[in-house]
Amino acid sequence: MPAPERVPPGPVTTAPAEPAPAGSVTALLTGGELTVRGRIAEASNAVLHCTVVHQGRTAACVYKPVAGEQPLWDFPDGTLAQREVAAYEVCAALGWELIPPTVLREGPYGPGMVQLWIDQADEEPGEPAGPGGAPEAGENASGPVPVGHLLALADAERPAPEGWRAIGLAEVPGGGTALLVHADDARLRRLAVLDAVINNSDRKGGHLLTSADGRLHGIDHGVTFHTEDKLRTLLWGWAGEPLPEEAVAALGRLAAALGEDAPLTTRLAALLTPAEVAALRDRVAALLASGTHPVPGGEWPAIPWPPV
Ligand SMILES: Nc1ncnc2c1ncn2[C@@H]1O[C@H](COP(=O)(O)OP(=O)(O)O)[C@@H](O)[C@H]1O
Ligand SMILES: [Mg+2]
Repeated sequence: MPAPERVPPGPVTTAPAEPAPAGSVTALLTGGELTVRGRIAEASNAVLHCTVVHQGRTAACVYKPVAGEQPLWDFPDGTLAQREVAAYEVCAALGWELIPPTVLREGPYGPGMVQLWIDQADEEPGEPAGPGGAPEAGENASGPVPVGHLLALADAERPAPEGWRAIGLAEVPGGGTALLVHADDARLRRLAVLDAVINNSDRKGGHLLTSADGRLHGIDHGVTFHTEDKLRTLLWGWAGEPLPEEAVAALGRLAAALGEDAPLTTRLAALLTPAEVAALRDRVAALLASGTHPVPGGEWPAIPWPPV
């Protein structure tokens, strides 16, 4: 059996193929002095809340050192930070600002990924209300019951209510079954396309942050770009439906950016294996050829658990 392909180890990939434009957020994240402020307790990998200071500018960020990554059975060890950066690069090439700026760099605990911190707004400005207005938690007769951000539980006997999209049936604590739904939201729809492109195997509700300006940000893209189909997401609400025109245009931009010797291709070659870059190209081509959102591979949609 041939030896498995290895992603280049972290330290040799921390020099970007092209310098970040001066004054950009990525220049701040890459060149700034990184100070660890605390550790996020509930994370599965080491996730450190930091500040970064560069030429008088300061930003909050997360730093996930490669050394703090938990080994996984299906992804090679020590590669999650590179995958997070590759996800950001691909998202930027789609022309969508859905992933906070993310870079690979040295830090106090060795090489890792550093990503701009997003303050989650208290309220979700774009949250569609169920019939009869936004329901209170615990309500079950007149509308979907919110479960976390942009997700809700609705009546299992009926189609998804207006403003929501069906994910699948879920057992609810205390017995019974409900229809798990996500918001019918253009920002989430872009994220669904992005996840299909990067083959995201862990898109849960807790990975969706909305900032006070109403923008949606996806985080946690360490388990992406596998060569096998591993799409595991909540965002199945558009499965099989035609892609919106803006998504087709974005996929066309990405396909062009993934040409031989193109700058993005060079940067991705330092982050992913050749087989993973080839699989990425194939997924983009397949989405453009079908013109539709992907459908779940199995009988049941593959959703991460717990979903929030
Ligand atoms: N860019 C970010 N902005 C704000 N909070 C973040 C960011 N990245 C991570 N977090 C916080 O840290 C938690 C753990 O991060 P996550 O990426 O899920 O780590 P893990 O790799 O362990 O799954 C998240 O649930 C979120 O609360
Ligand atoms: Mg996580």
